[in-house]
Amino acid sequence: MAIPQADPGANYRAHRAEIDAAIARTLESGRYILGPEVEAFEAEFAAYCGVAHASGVGSGTEALTLALRAVGVGPGDEVITVAHTAVATVAAIEAAGARPVLVDVDPVFYTLDPARLDAAITTRTRAVIPVHLYGQPADLAPIRDWTRRHGLWLIEDAAQAHGAIYHGRRVGSWGDLACFSFYPTKNLGALGDGGMVVTDNADLAERVRLLRQYGWRVRYISHIPGTNSRLDELQAAVLRVKLRYLEVENERRRALARRYTSLLAGSDVIPPTERPDACHVYHLYVIRYARRDQLRAALHSQGIGSTVHYPVPVHLQPAYSHLRLGRAALPVSEGLSREVLSLPLYPEMSEEEVERVASIVLGCLGGV
Ligand SMILES: Cc1ncc(COP(=O)(O)O)c(C=O)c1O
Repeated sequence: MAIPQADPGANYRAHRAEIDAAIARTLESGRYILGPEVEAFEAEFAAYCGVAHASGVGSGTEALTLALRAVGVGPGDEVITVAHTAVATVAAIEAAGARPVLVDVDPVFYTLDPARLDAAITTRTRAVIPVHLYGQPADLAPIRDWTRRHGLWLIEDAAQAHGAIYHGRRVGSWGDLACFSFYPTKNLGALGDGGMVVTDNADLAERVRLLRQYGWRVRYISHIPGTNSRLDELQAAVLRVKLRYLEVENERRRALARRYTSLLAGSDVIPPTERPDACHVYHLYVIRYARRDQLRAALHSQGIGSTVHYPVPVHLQPAYSHLRLGRAALPVSEGLSREVLSLPLYPEMSEEEVERVASIVLGCLGGV
């Protein structure tokens, strides 16, 4: 039996009766855009994150762009983020009209290295976007201290880290704003696209709400130039069901990750390292291995799915060659892109399946 790297269909099947009922209720309601389901989900998700406000938007990418626009970041401004991330983080900065300035990640946890910030700041820097990559919180305390010291905005990219905890508080509650994605494979995944911006700041929450719908406070009257980026009622209704299971499913991911790590211990594979005083929610279980491509091919031939997150750091991608100019290389990001491999992990996986994948990985190591 093949084992995929992720399986959003299994999550639907696990909650089928409740999801089908939520969809039927929404269809019957006749309200499909920005209605009671979105409002209820916003309140529930804000409470879950431990913040005052949440605004549902069209995707995680748009959440980042609207968060940047809400704080006034635009053309002429620079935003510091990492090169070892989904290209969405960088695309969102450019969509806001600003210039991404890419820094390296640290070699142990693979998140923004606070020691790189001093070299990246210029008079045009306005914001920093750390990414909680693979479900692991970035080192928020020193990053937040640094942004405060320099009067910059801190916007968390929490697209991969719903429910992760750093120093006793959920990610999403550390930045001035934080952005989530509900892409179907995420720990909290919709049945299509969706995103959320959370914040404790009522003015910023209001600005995101204006921006997501043409700047309307009252219908058809635009107070500021906005766009169309709305979470729809069907997705919100489904996400409300899934939010109720997020804690249990994150715990399940963590248990399966622990099992992988203990099975792979002592091999040439480098398992993920959890940041102390943090709770990693294992959106992805990412190993490092020097002959990654050969291992991936060998796994594939035995029906084991795996993915590379990410094969090319953003500054080396064809679309972003302009970001490379005049910048130093980013050796950790570049090394990771050659070695990382995401093994199958999703809450519906059985322990036996994890054992099977680990044993196939170990069996392949000698031969690749
Ligand atoms: C780190 C990160 N940031 C941003 C995004 C963008 O989210 P979306 O796909 O919902 O636009 C994603 C997901 O794809 C992501 O993994």
